[in-house]
Amino acid sequence: MGVRRGRNVIGFDGSMCDLSHKVRYVPSIYHHKMEYNFRTIIEPFRIHSVEPLHMTTRDQRIGAIEECGFNVFNLHAQDVLIDLLTDSGTGAMSRDQWAAIQHGDESYAGSPSWFRFEAGVKELFAFEHIIPTHQGRAAEKILFSVIGGPGKVVPNNTHFDTTRANVEASGAEALDLLIAEGRDPSNLHPFKGNMDLDALDGLLATRASDVPAVFLTITNNSGGGQPVSLANIRGVSEICRRYGVPFFLDACRFAENAWFIHEREPGQGERDIADIVREVASLADGMTMSAKKDPFGNIGGWLAMNDDALAEKCRNLLILTEGFPTYGGLAGRDLEAIAQGLKEAVQPDYLRYRIQSTAYLGEALHAAGVPVVMPIGGHAVYLDAKALLPHVAPLEYPGQSLAVALYEVGGIRACEIGSVMFGRQPDGSEKPAAMELVRLAIPRRTYTQSHIDYVIEVVSAVAARASSLPGYRMVYEPTTLRHFTARYEPIV
Ligand code: F0G
Repeated sequence: MGVRRGRNVIGFDGSMCDLSHKVRYVPSIYHHKMEYNFRTIIEPFRIHSVEPLHMTTRDQRIGAIEECGFNVFNLHAQDVLIDLLTDSGTGAMSRDQWAAIQHGDESYAGSPSWFRFEAGVKELFAFEHIIPTHQGRAAEKILFSVIGGPGKVVPNNTHFDTTRANVEASGAEALDLLIAEGRDPSNLHPFKGNMDLDALDGLLATRASDVPAVFLTITNNSGGGQPVSLANIRGVSEICRRYGVPFFLDACRFAENAWFIHEREPGQGERDIADIVREVASLADGMTMSAKKDPFGNIGGWLAMNDDALAEKCRNLLILTEGFPTYGGLAGRDLEAIAQGLKEAVQPDYLRYRIQSTAYLGEALHAAGVPVVMPIGGHAVYLDAKALLPHVAPLEYPGQSLAVALYEVGGIRACEIGSVMFGRQPDGSEKPAAMELVRLAIPRRTYTQSHIDYVIEVVSAVAARASSLPGYRMVYEPTTLRHFTARYEPIV
């Protein structure tokens, strides 16, 4: 036998034979046409180019983290074995993205790479104006410089740290209106990223004129990578339209959010992922985007909207800070990589693997008795440091302590999302965050199942000695986004 094509078979010697008058041999295994469901999640790709990992000893890691003032952001990436600090810009590019990069045209204005990028974005997000930026926070900075300001309030399900910082830098207030279930790490609500629609309605009923835009972060990164349902997005859109307030998406993980809608929301399971994404976009008036997440860019982002006057103001600022409106701080090759990445981000085989492999890590830790935010989110597993280190007070940073231990014990770098990241108030005072989490973010298509099995072993070993981990105090604290550069010492 050879390769079957229609009713002909191509022999391995290249000859063709017509099977139309012959009885086809059907192996017995196929008799019932049964689909086998195997448990092993296979990566839907094979490895094309490899990057070595650098091994270190425990003593070397202890020395390295001490030198860094116990802040994992200060480590040399060389000294990290499995880097789960972020899923941002760290995914593996595909063969087709590298091929697209070869088409990168670096013309200052009107490059063909720009037009491919713009078309790729509009294919999913059909906004009138697409304004490229070098990453997501640049889009936030431009937008809030135009629409923010003292006396204004910007609601969101949960602001990501850079979003909050950019809202506050303009003098406006950043308000989180997440549903109550989203703040309970063990609640199994399928859409824990949903906005509290009553709270939003209440806010707009009294202060609509102070709200320059309502934001919705999909998936809700700071709240555990939890999705927002299509019904909730429709609800936010309806409320915003009723009060005449623009509705913006912070859409970094739009494809993962659409996959959760496809899997969990009644009536959505038969839809194409791209179709769900297009509906989500059609419900909003604009978006900010970090193309370093779902679109598989190493760098990049955009700001999009339908409002012509707002777009003009934003483009004027863009030229001042990012570049001409057809490249906005990106090389032509970056624009090409993102345009191709957007096509790959909405492929069901990829998304099934992506979401299942994140759940594989989270569910294994949960089964081992490690407290994790449930259900498992899209891009990351969030360890509940408050539950694991009850002896460490929130303002002695249990998440920070856990992150240091993961590095010391196994060379794993993770990110605190708790009172270090959110505890500092605009007036300089400090208050505990709603949750003390440590995020194990999974770079896209980068680590294999054996890397993840190693992570499960290390986290379990650290959890077993969690009661001996110390609290930390800050010995250096910058005024904004302090988690990036703060220095600490253990409280002994
Ligand atoms: N919004 C969300 C929800 C994000 O997760 C991020 C970045 C941004 C905006 C800003 O985008 O990094 O391109 O400027 N999140 C990364 C993370 C850094 O690790 O979660 P950016």
